[in-house]
Amino acid sequence: MKDYIQKIISAGIMAPSGDNCQPWRFEQDGNRIDLFNVPERDTSLYNYKQRASLIAHGACIENMLISARKHSCRAELKYFPMPENEQHIARLNFTPGEAEEDPFFTAISARTINRKPYKGGKLPAKAIDNIHQAATGAGISGCSLKLLENSAKDAAADIVALSDRLVFENPLLHRFLFDHIRWNPEEAERTRDGLDIRTLELAPADRMLFPLLKNYDLVRFIRMFGATRVIAANARKLMRSSSAAGIITIADTSPENWLNAGRMLERIWLEATRQGLAFHLMTGITLLVQRETTQGLDNSNLSLVKKARILLSKASGSELPLALLFRIGTCDQPTVRSLRFKMKV
Ligand SMILES: Cc1cc2nc3c(=O)[nH]c(=O)nc-3n(C[C@H](O)[C@H](O)[C@H](O)COP(=O)(O)O)c2cc1C
Repeated sequence: MKDYIQKIISAGIMAPSGDNCQPWRFEQDGNRIDLFNVPERDTSLYNYKQRASLIAHGACIENMLISARKHSCRAELKYFPMPENEQHIARLNFTPGEAEEDPFFTAISARTINRKPYKGGKLPAKAIDNIHQAATGAGISGCSLKLLENSAKDAAADIVALSDRLVFENPLLHRFLFDHIRWNPEEAERTRDGLDIRTLELAPADRMLFPLLKNYDLVRFIRMFGATRVIAANARKLMRSSSAAGIITIADTSPENWLNAGRMLERIWLEATRQGLAFHLMTGITLLVQRETTQGLDNSNLSLVKKARILLSKASGSELPLALLFRIGTCDQPTVRSLRFKMKV
């Protein structure tokens, strides 16, 4: 069974993570995997109380559970097995079981973000049904999914516009993004983390301009001429080009619920992949609205966050904390896929 443990971890590391930081570390002992958080991998303002990383860990756990079933292993999962160590995210104990065909297994390696403009149009009712079933299928508690179509997507479009604007109006968010851009294939291959510039799917003119935006003094200057509103308008257009916006809300902000939100996100994303649909997580600001501290944000940033909070409760139709926002649609394949660190256990 030990050979399979490596395969199960290989499935885990295919999970999405904020700016592809891959905030995980694994320890293997016999038929057991211990999953740890590595806080220094994601120091972003978005990662308040490690919540962005907890979402990534949730997705990683879901991949491991799916892979275990495929490899005839029954998995017993425990979150935070050592309460005194909050970085010890989960323990999975495996025992021999029956091999089960899981429709999501092949989607694990095919899943990827697609930031291109989508082609609009409605999703078939069956596709929507399957996405809802995928979200609830594993009995994940503490979070729920809402899909918005047609004009209901407009609030989501306004939220992502605020989100992208904020990246160019806050020096910490701006720095974190640009520190994680990998400017050419050689750099992407050498670091195997961060955002390969090609995954941003920039239009040719933006591709020329984007490197200039690395200079925050220049960004501050062009902001006076409304440049960040142009960036915001682009994000709004991307959301409007989708067939549906998705919102995952959580019942409360316990660490377990952020893990569950990550598991639900991964199941939805795998189902979309299985259906040949494109998927784009556009969630920066949803991770800022629940910060209980204003640290790192100035008054003008805070007023954007406040606007987003109002729009979010309008879009989700509830006061429940919102964990994640994404868009789904039809589109050509993305230009390239992100890499992962070589596996070390
Ligand atoms: C918590 C979290 C937040 C994310 N937020 C965004 C986002 O706001 N915009 C975006 O384009 N991608 C976002 N991503 C996607 C990651 O950038 C992406 O998963 C990562 O670069 C790896 O690429 P892959 O998903 O194609 O494997 C997020 C991922 C996670 C887990």
